[in-house]
This record gives sequence, C-alpha cells and structure tokens, in this order.
Amino acid sequence: MKHNSLEPKLENSLEPKKVSSLEQFIHQAENNWSGLNSDNVNRLKSALTALTQSSPKEPWLAALFNEKPAAKTLYESEQHRFMLLAHHEPADFYRQPHDHGNGWVLYAVLSGTIAMNTYKILTDNNGNEQLVNRGKEVLATGDCRVFLPGDIHHTHCLSDNFMQFRFTSCDFKQEIKSGRMKRF
Ligand SMILES: [Fe+2]
Repeated sequence: MKHNSLEPKLENSLEPKKVSSLEQFIHQAENNWSGLNSDNVNRLKSALTALTQSSPKEPWLAALFNEKPAAKTLYESEQHRFMLLAHHEPADFYRQPHDHGNGWVLYAVLSGTIAMNTYKILTDNNGNEQLVNRGKEVLATGDCRVFLPGDIHHTHCLSDNFMQFRFTSCDFKQEIKSGRMKRF
C-alpha cells in the first residue's frame, strides 16, 4: 500500500502534545481578552490563581525556582500588550507606596509571604491631600490581588523564598517613563 504523507503518523497520533500550565494560562488570557472590565479581570484572577498551583516539576517552573529572577518576562502579548512576569524578592524587601499609572495589575503569590498595605488619597475641606493607609494584609501561596488604575499600595516581603507572578495590562516601563505611574 502506498504511504500517504498527509496522513498523520500513528506514533504521533498516540502521543498527545503536553501543554504546560503556563501555555494554558497564556492561551486563556489571549483568547478571551476583553480589556479592563469585571469579567476579564475576574477570569484572569482565577486563571492566575490556578497558575500558582502548577506542579514545581513542570520544567518552566522548576527553572524559575532555580533561577530566582528579580524580574523575568514570561510572556508579552503582541496583540493585547499585556505581560506576565515573575519576581523573586529577598526577605524584608520594601517597595514604597505607588500606583500603576493607567495600567492595572494582578499579583499572585507562588511561594512565601508578602505584606501589602493599600491606600487612598483623600482631600480635606481645606484642599489638603493626604495618603491614608487602609491597613496591612499578608498574602501567601495561592493568594491573588487586583489593583485597578489609581489603586495605591506598598509591599514588604516577609520571607526568603518569596516568588510571585505579576500580570500587567501593559508594559509598566512606559507608565513610569510617561510620569503616569506615581510613587508617594
Ligand atoms: Fe505595585
């Protein structure tokens, strides 16, 4: 019988391609993207939370735990401009209160713990502004928090083994460069 080169080879058809949890997340984020709205934010929050539960045996995650990068871009969307990054921070590492410009961001803890304080800028009757702290929340593995444009927080890493995912709606370097992202 003549071999038809267009037919899939039997051995290939018996080996389904293994899709990593990272590829699954990217696929979900890209395919149902609808910008800044409650549905998109909440489905991304669920997907990013699920990504924190990935097996550390997955090669991409094992490499990340081995590398412990201060900042690593795992994915950048050409079409929608969102980014997925991973960050390792040493214990006691502190980021001063800041907003995220016109961007919005999801933080999801992969390992260790971090304290986050959120703030609001209030204007009194005399027109004086002050930054008011809502208090501290400690985030551990599997916790994910959303910060919309204008939301302000500071972070304080509490453990040596801390690693988190940071999903940003755009490249925050542009928010800093443009002066839209503010530190307080
Ligand atoms: Fe932030």
